[in-house]
Amino acid sequence: MFLDRVKPLDVILAVAEKKSLHRSLGGFQLMLFGIGCIIGTGIFVLTAAGAQKAGPGLMLAFVIAGAVCIVAALCYAEIASMIPVAGSAYTYSYATMGEFLAWTVGWALVLEYAIAASAVAVGWSGYFTGTILHDTFGISLPASLTAGPLALGGAPGGLINLPAFIIALLVTWLLMIGTSESARVNAVLVLIKVTALTVFIALTFTSPEFEVERFNPFLPAGVFGGWGTGVGAVGAAATIFFAYVGFDAVSTAAEETKNPQRNVPIGLVGSLLFCTIFYILVAAGAIGTIGGQPIMGPGGIPFPAGSEQLALQCAMPQYADALVCSNEALAHVLRQIGFGAIGNMLGYAAILALPSVILVLLYAQTRIFFVMSRDGLLPDGLSKVHPKWKTPYVVTAITGVLVAIGAAFFPVGQLADIANAGTLYAFAMVAVAVMILRKSDGARERSFRVPGLVVIGPLTVLGCVFLFLNLPLAAMLMLPIWTVIGFVIYALYSRRHSHMAQGIVEVHEPELADIEPDIPGIADRDRP
Ligand code: ALA
Repeated sequence: MFLDRVKPLDVILAVAEKKSLHRSLGGFQLMLFGIGCIIGTGIFVLTAAGAQKAGPGLMLAFVIAGAVCIVAALCYAEIASMIPVAGSAYTYSYATMGEFLAWTVGWALVLEYAIAASAVAVGWSGYFTGTILHDTFGISLPASLTAGPLALGGAPGGLINLPAFIIALLVTWLLMIGTSESARVNAVLVLIKVTALTVFIALTFTSPEFEVERFNPFLPAGVFGGWGTGVGAVGAAATIFFAYVGFDAVSTAAEETKNPQRNVPIGLVGSLLFCTIFYILVAAGAIGTIGGQPIMGPGGIPFPAGSEQLALQCAMPQYADALVCSNEALAHVLRQIGFGAIGNMLGYAAILALPSVILVLLYAQTRIFFVMSRDGLLPDGLSKVHPKWKTPYVVTAITGVLVAIGAAFFPVGQLADIANAGTLYAFAMVAVAVMILRKSDGARERSFRVPGLVVIGPLTVLGCVFLFLNLPLAAMLMLPIWTVIGFVIYALYSRRHSHMAQGIVEVHEPELADIEPDIPGIADRDRP
């Protein structure tokens, strides 16, 4: 049962061939697309949680997480340019490891995309509540309406995070009615985000507040904080990995890229390197100006980010201005060093740009569910396409409501950690799929080949396992728990309803093509 029902690659590829999209994207366009998906809540908000875990060692954390993403990106590039169809890691696994493992990957991708969308919505809410409501209109929403009550570590919260709930529903509605995002809009949003981060770096590095002393001690919680604690530089890397999530969306555009051997790695690795450098500089600017030492608990171990103990500390006057206590980390830094108005503008930039990250993540999630439902692993009704909107509206509505509920009730850091757990599993499986395909089907043409796969493949798997083991225990446990739930659904429903099991092996890509041209961020690409 575990390794059977491998979907024949030829069938998948024959369908992809029929689709045959025009190769129009260059390396630069792919990079823009990638940066649009990558920069979001991770840097704008989780910088605070990262500093609470690692102090100034957050800079090292960005390097570690970025390195794992770059090797994973190369694996994605090879398989995406070889199997250029919808479904991403799920489809790759179906073609190499069979239906059951593909199911576990598709199921884990729910954590990556849906939970990540919830996390970005919560991050957005922090800026909306602080910059727009409080600083611009002088409205203070009661705490009970700006934070959810459910923290896995028992953090005190509010009742519901209303702004996060609303933005998630709003984006869902936009996706349902077929709103996409053109390449031009994506380029403008990338420009806004990159300008905001550039201004942040310039102002912090030239500020008289910038003192090298603030980087000392550089690693207050060490490099390894201990398995399951989620602290230390690698603990922070496991959390801040979230800041890179989304680059895999670039791989979905591989089939439309000119000269993919050259441009796909430029797009993937280029956007990741670009973001890594920006992230390190932003972290340095924040810590150099207002400091970023963690608030230590008993035994000299930082209080867990998002925990009740930390919230209690943050309520004390001496920590009122601490980086690690802020919900809008970057705007907060600028306000602290005397650039209140520019801090607000950075807040506006985040408010404007983060919904497009939610859109891409939600889009990716609905398309994975869509493909799984077309394969018979989820009920058929989910893949119903709306006659007018041309979108899979049923699955979009269900996913969107679940994302909104996640956003309403959980804190951002924990959502991000759970999303990371699922993502790391999917990335590792993609690396395994690439290695299997090189062995089983080495002669088949690949428009991009990972150089030195014997090293890069295992490095990707090890990097993912390593980061996973450095997540906080609660987030780590979510993956096996989620997988067991998935296993039950597979055993009770999917295995029997699978189209492969019934001898139906075609992929319904031509119909999918009706709804596919709208990958947010490259929607107005050239078409033949
Ligand atoms: N990387 C994306 C973000 O940080 C998901 O918001």
